[in-house]
Amino acid sequence: MKIIRGKDEREVGRIVAGIIADEINAKPDAVLGLATGSTPICTYEELVRKYKRGEIDFSKVCTVNLDEYKGLSPENNQSYRFFMNNQLFDHINIKKENTHLPDGLEEDGEKACIKYEACLRQVGAPDIQLLGLGLNGHIGFNEPSNVFSKTTHCVDLTESTIEANSRFFATMDDVPKQAYTMGIGSIMKARTIILIVTGAKKRDILHEVINGDVRPEVPATILQMHADVIVVADEAALGDEIEI
Ligand code: GLP
Repeated sequence: MKIIRGKDEREVGRIVAGIIADEINAKPDAVLGLATGSTPICTYEELVRKYKRGEIDFSKVCTVNLDEYKGLSPENNQSYRFFMNNQLFDHINIKKENTHLPDGLEEDGEKACIKYEACLRQVGAPDIQLLGLGLNGHIGFNEPSNVFSKTTHCVDLTESTIEANSRFFATMDDVPKQAYTMGIGSIMKARTIILIVTGAKKRDILHEVINGDVRPEVPATILQMHADVIVVADEAALGDEIEI
């Protein structure tokens, strides 16, 4: 794993956006694997700034997102489709038909997963996959488990994830209890993976992801087995004890 230290979340966002811009400039039809959550927001803001300055052309870029809540429509302001439109897609020249997320409104879990797997196959493995990190070590919505999942599946979210995500919803009851997520196997197919981690509350889990044993109980530890992972983290998340 290569570790890049940024001063704060703004600097982390600039570093990650810079890597993405270089990729798109070298390969205009790049496939980007995108993530939601609060962590990548600074990266998306910087990508929008770069686009407005004429430094990136997204017209041939394709995107696939990691996950979507089951039961939320694209118009629901807590759905990940809404988030992606609002944070990034509506502000750049990407073609909406080139942006993909699992279909949160598909009630038949099996059907939703088959459909998204077909989409991932058609688009091809991401050149760059962005990941945030859950407090329990989840990536996408691959929660701690006794196996590493391979493909897109429907997950029951853990209490800790429901609790962590409840900050975005009016009441606890509004937080979806299930989601569709790319599997760990699909994530590992990306050529380059960028794990973005910010904030002191992620310090312990980041330490474990980098140095701990590889095990499905802490899903992100599998990233140690990938040939090209870049961890971009701020001072607060890295602390002093993580050696670079
Ligand atoms: C959610 C998302 C993850 C994200 C995680 C961390 O559960 N499904 O993809 O990485 O939250 O979120 P945050 O970046 O807000 O800490």
